[in-house]
Amino acid sequence: MKQWASLAGAALFAPYASAQFTMLRFACSQLVVERTDPLVNPGVLYTPHLHQIVGGNAFNASMDLETYDLPGRSTCTSCSFAEDFSNYWTAVMFFHHRNGSYIRVPQVGNGGPQGRLINDGGLDVYYIPNGRVTAFKKGFRMLAGNAANTDPSRVQGSYICHRCWPSTSDNPFPGGAPCTGSDTVEIPRDPGCKMIRQTIYFPVCWDGVNLDSPDHQSHVAYSSGNPGGGGGNCPSSHPVKLPQLMYELMWDVSKFADRNMWPTDGSPPFVYSMNIGGAAAHGDYVFGWKGDTLQRAMDNRCNLNNDCPAAGIHFQQPAVYNSCKKPQQAVEQVDGWLASMPLGEPAIKA
Ligand SMILES: *[C@@H]1O[C@H](CO)[C@@H](O)[C@H](O)[C@H]1NC(C)=O
Ligand SMILES: *[C@@H]1O[C@H](CO)[C@@H](O)[C@H](O)[C@H]1NC(C)=O
Repeated sequence: MKQWASLAGAALFAPYASAQFTMLRFACSQLVVERTDPLVNPGVLYTPHLHQIVGGNAFNASMDLETYDLPGRSTCTSCSFAEDFSNYWTAVMFFHHRNGSYIRVPQVGNGGPQGRLINDGGLDVYYIPNGRVTAFKKGFRMLAGNAANTDPSRVQGSYICHRCWPSTSDNPFPGGAPCTGSDTVEIPRDPGCKMIRQTIYFPVCWDGVNLDSPDHQSHVAYSSGNPGGGGGNCPSSHPVKLPQLMYELMWDVSKFADRNMWPTDGSPPFVYSMNIGGAAAHGDYVFGWKGDTLQRAMDNRCNLNNDCPAAGIHFQQPAVYNSCKKPQQAVEQVDGWLASMPLGEPAIKA
């Protein structure tokens, strides 16, 4: 067991190149940016803060997540694999100009040292198996992080973190596994950062019974092991080992490097859409792979964003997944310079 753990660790630092160490890793482009959240605020338009949502276009402000048939109702997905109609969402990042205006920070793809994934906004998704794993079941959903938290010491920095990226590409690659080394819970405030990479690892252990829980978290737990290697042993309360789900977001802050634009009162130049920094970073997940394709992809060690006939999963060209878009249900301006952040206005129960 010990040997396996160190093997997984070693594979991680030879970043993702080892033939034995396989994972799904793929781009998901923007589906819609809007104030909805069917997991935490079902049926509400103009939720307290703004989200970016990617995945299947059946996404809706109100959907009964237990029974809503994402693969059956979606006609396209903004993710690379044609069989993945899951929905993935996170907060968005804003730059706060010293003149009081806000603008949404643009996003690009990454995908680690093997080259940049082509995304139109959005994020990259990883499913990392360590040994045999049980894929999520239909109706499964969960939340990582806490959108109201202002205390960085309450965040486990080995699961949710930020890295200052000194260039606007993968070259040079500022090495090491996510959430190690000098990565921080807070959003870096360094004009030398051209991009900021945000990583969100989800819990990898499941109670094996509940598809959700009242806080959307207690049916799952983190493992004892390195999440970058797919996690380690699960606690007896949550014995079922899931694929290690990870979101990777690349915030392109290169246009905001001039400190003369930064707030003069010492408040942070970059904040998430809750108007809180890295302590409130969070991600939401609703499983929606077609049939048993994700289980087969894990069992057959499908790799990266490649076609994988053994699992029946197919890579779509960027032009295809980039064209899957959805109009806002909570209609408002979210791009360009804004006099205030779209935030906290009275929600309308739809
Ligand atoms: C989508 O959400 C809207 C707003 O909550 C609701 O009126 C509509 O019935 C939902 N559509 C489906 C297919 O559930
Ligand atoms: C703040 O600065 C930006 C960038 O120069 C500008 O577009 C925006 O209109 C300014 N906002 C205000 C309130 O002056």
